[in-house]
Amino acid sequence: MSIPMVDLKIQYESIQDEINRAVLGVLQNTHFILGPHGKALEEEVAGYHKVKHAVAVASGTDALHLALLATGIKRGDEVITSPFTFIATAEAISYVGAVPVFVDIRPDTFNMDITKLEAAITKKTKAIIPVHLYGHPVDMDGLMQLAKEHHLRVVEDCAQSFGAEYQGKKTGAFGDIGCFSFFPSKNLGCYGDGGMVITDDAKLAEHMLSLRNHGSRVRYYHDEIGYNSRLDEIQAAILRIKFKHIDEYNAKRNANASLYAKYLSVPGIQTPREQSGTKHVFHQYTIRVKNRDAVKKKLDEGNVTSSMIYYPVPLHLQTAYEDLGMKPGSLPAAEQAAQEVLSLPMYPELTEGQIKQVADAVKKAL
Ligand SMILES: Cc1ncc(COP(=O)(O)O)c(C=O)c1O
Repeated sequence: MSIPMVDLKIQYESIQDEINRAVLGVLQNTHFILGPHGKALEEEVAGYHKVKHAVAVASGTDALHLALLATGIKRGDEVITSPFTFIATAEAISYVGAVPVFVDIRPDTFNMDITKLEAAITKKTKAIIPVHLYGHPVDMDGLMQLAKEHHLRVVEDCAQSFGAEYQGKKTGAFGDIGCFSFFPSKNLGCYGDGGMVITDDAKLAEHMLSLRNHGSRVRYYHDEIGYNSRLDEIQAAILRIKFKHIDEYNAKRNANASLYAKYLSVPGIQTPREQSGTKHVFHQYTIRVKNRDAVKKKLDEGNVTSSMIYYPVPLHLQTAYEDLGMKPGSLPAAEQAAQEVLSLPMYPELTEGQIKQVADAVKKAL
């Protein structure tokens, strides 16, 4: 059987008794929505990030959406982000009626190129959404400096970077709000949809608490039109168990990345590198190769390993964003990355033998 991109079963089996007990506990006490596990998880995740508040929500997409609503981003505003990310980042901007403005990426980290950021700021710019793609932190020093100078809000998209660090501080703790996804395949994933926002600002936290629950702080009294975006107790209970292991899981991903780098160090393959001063949590292990489509085809035919393209089309060239009127060639680094990236299997439980098998298959396909 081909080596999968992720193996959620092997991880479940290693913590099966604890998970089953926790889920059964929720079934037996029948407190399914906004109960003690959700509250405890919020406190645990806030403490882990050394921030004051966390609010659990229904997905990473909702986390971004509620964060933009809470920071007051509205119709006609511009929000700067990366074109090389999952569409949810930009969708959240569109949900509040704002316009996404894409800044090209660095070819080595695939993250927004901070040296190109200032040129994209206009009078309408109200916020920046840095995306810590694949688990590698964005250059937050430069970004926060520019945000401060131009009075911009910063909402971090940490969907892929739970536990990653920049200069010793966790991603999500830099901006006004940090947004997380607990989609099953994420570094910290539940068994359904889930997400969270973190912040040091009590007012923003209060507002997001209300927004996630129909604009209500007191039951059946509604201050504004809100949403149904609550994390359910079964998912919260599962996440609390997995959360105890997150540093160990991330360390294993990092060690697996070092093994990949060792076995893939041949001309023609650019392997991902942790930039100095950062801790990369390798949500994805993504290489670059010039003849990517041919390599992927051979890998698929060889049936030794799975591989995936995250992402084949940058957001400025997606049909959904054709009204922005951006043409091919406008963001060359993102466009070239979309042609050359190839993500290989990455999860904590991968063995050195499997990594070697994948690496051998890639070198053969090359
Ligand atoms: C970078 C990024 N942002 C946002 C999201 C949205 O998260 P979710 O799927 O939990 O809504 C994802 C994950 O799918 C993502 O990878």
